[in-house]
Amino acid sequence: MSTVTNIESVLQEKRIFPPPPEFSAKAHIQSEAELERLRAEAHADPEAFWARMAEELHWFKKWDTVLKWDPPHAEWFGGGLINISYNCLDRHLSTWRRNKAALIWEGEPGETRTYTYQQLHTEVCKFANVLKHAGVMRGDRVALYMPLIPELAISMLACARIGATHSVVFGGFSSAALIDRINDASCKVVVTADGGWRRGKEVKLKAAVDEAVKETPSVTACIVVRRTGSQQEMQDGRDFWWHDLMETVETDCAAEELDSEHPLYILYTSGTTGKPKGILHTTAGYLLQAHLTTKWVFDLKDEDLYWCTADIGWVTGHSYVVYGPLSNGATVLMYEGAPNFPEPDRFWSMIEKHRVNIFYTAPTAIRAFIKWGDSWPLKHDLSSLRLLGTVGEPINPEAWMWYHRTIGKERCPIVDTWWQTETGAIMITPIPGATPTKPGSGTKPFPGIEPDIMTREGKSVGPNEGGYLVLKRPWPSMLRTIWGDDERYKQQYWSQIDGIYFAGDGARRDPDGYFWIMGRIDDVINVSGHRLGTAEIESALVSHATVAEAAVVARPDELKGSGIVAFVTLEGSHSPSEALNQELRAHVVKEIGALARPDEIRFTDALPKTRSGKIMRRLLREIATSGTVAGDVTTLEDFSVLEKLRAEEE
Ligand code: WT7
Repeated sequence: MSTVTNIESVLQEKRIFPPPPEFSAKAHIQSEAELERLRAEAHADPEAFWARMAEELHWFKKWDTVLKWDPPHAEWFGGGLINISYNCLDRHLSTWRRNKAALIWEGEPGETRTYTYQQLHTEVCKFANVLKHAGVMRGDRVALYMPLIPELAISMLACARIGATHSVVFGGFSSAALIDRINDASCKVVVTADGGWRRGKEVKLKAAVDEAVKETPSVTACIVVRRTGSQQEMQDGRDFWWHDLMETVETDCAAEELDSEHPLYILYTSGTTGKPKGILHTTAGYLLQAHLTTKWVFDLKDEDLYWCTADIGWVTGHSYVVYGPLSNGATVLMYEGAPNFPEPDRFWSMIEKHRVNIFYTAPTAIRAFIKWGDSWPLKHDLSSLRLLGTVGEPINPEAWMWYHRTIGKERCPIVDTWWQTETGAIMITPIPGATPTKPGSGTKPFPGIEPDIMTREGKSVGPNEGGYLVLKRPWPSMLRTIWGDDERYKQQYWSQIDGIYFAGDGARRDPDGYFWIMGRIDDVINVSGHRLGTAEIESALVSHATVAEAAVVARPDELKGSGIVAFVTLEGSHSPSEALNQELRAHVVKEIGALARPDEIRFTDALPKTRSGKIMRRLLREIATSGTVAGDVTTLEDFSVLEKLRAEEE
């Protein structure tokens, strides 16, 4: 990384959208003044604030100390005894919510299943007993490699119930990736399914597990949900059908009283090196922040139907499909498949059919919707929606405006939520009844969260100056370590400045104190001594009427240090031409300035993405620099994209 400390920030966005008064009137937090009071309370005495909020959870035994901070190791609510599964299920059974829908699930082929809190509780208890019979004990690790079906949530809650640590491996990963993850955590049991449905095709899971377990000596049993009905080889003594085992067990299973810091889950995420990091989250602090952010950020009410489209294989699914909403007693919609199956309006037709109120998705999905055309959402009645959210990467102001107009009908607040696998829960975000929003900004920190923008040396920078996004105080849902590699944990996140967490993102704060995330630091381009966030150049490109999606990378340049290469996909009705090439370069100059002018624009049909929808800029950098890809491509969603990019090179 270069020693230059300032990141040039050039994006100008002046629009501002106050919360609709009728929304604020009914919201949990109704005004900026009220929100500022909470921030001030939390700032003055964070431990007292989090302790007050922790009263909302069910405890078998209250904590002795709120926080022990021995940087970079935190212990939250030490001495407390708690269980997340109890908080998500049992707690609601003594209330009117007992017969409320907890989960409404829709499979890609179109079937639906609904579980009330009582029914979900029974399934979770039964599966907890199945795990116990399989020899799983408190502290053991269980790998979950499943489609987006209710049994995945049931498995997580069953693990949490008996104190087993789950490691969900996204169902789109290969068996090689599964081997690494199972072995890294020495998982004892694997829960899977025969397969799942994606764009009308079966994604085979059990077959990948069969490959994997040849090389995972720790695994003693494999439990298989019958989902697609495809033919399976079941190995005697190792493989068991979920439905067979569920018939053999008791329907009750007491939730274990676990220490606040009991390991809840490991979730792997990629870093700057090849080996994925096993991010470890623990129990009480994680639950508290997932619970409170779900309630305040999504302004969640009992009568809402809440839909977060993330796969449970990612942290968003852990915190905002399962733990946060269920601990709030919400009704969660869950969908197995692709957004464009059988047609590009699947999401809009589901919103209309189920009358969804709160919708949380990713910018990459929003850009796909824009590309597919307005006719798809316009065909549907979206009037049930009252709140929209986004997460995962910076959202271009133009995509934000499209979301606001075409989906939200200028009526729904948008919460642009910044956080990471490592933070466990939302950190920087609007509170919808209180915070005026600006397209492209995550606005301000959640109460109790203390971000700042610093130089590499740890000096806070002034308004509109770019720098490194850091967190100055420990927070309840923070990662506790990297599983099996505490040194890497210290090195990766805490080695710059003692006691300060480096998020790996560049950002600036505007004169109103709003945060603007500029993307990963490794996506920053240094052109002639000016550092530019690639996200800003991409925003400029996407603001052009012809552009659907853009990814900008650096290429070594003798004169300028780095040259800028933009990979661009066009809206349906437009096609590449030299004139358009020139026009786009001029457009970037107009939006940002001459220093951001792309040296080269490459039109392409599609961009290489991970299965979570993140553009793999590393691959694009390789293509832009050397014309080929030598690095690791195991997380790539669609290999044909690479082939095409290479072909376009020739
Ligand atoms: C990285 C974390 C947290 C769930 C999904 C991603 C980027 C995330 C935003 C946002 C700008 C964002 C950051 C962050 N990011 N949300 N609202 N605005 N950037 O989790 O895979 O751990 O990725 O995603 O770069 O560091 P993740």
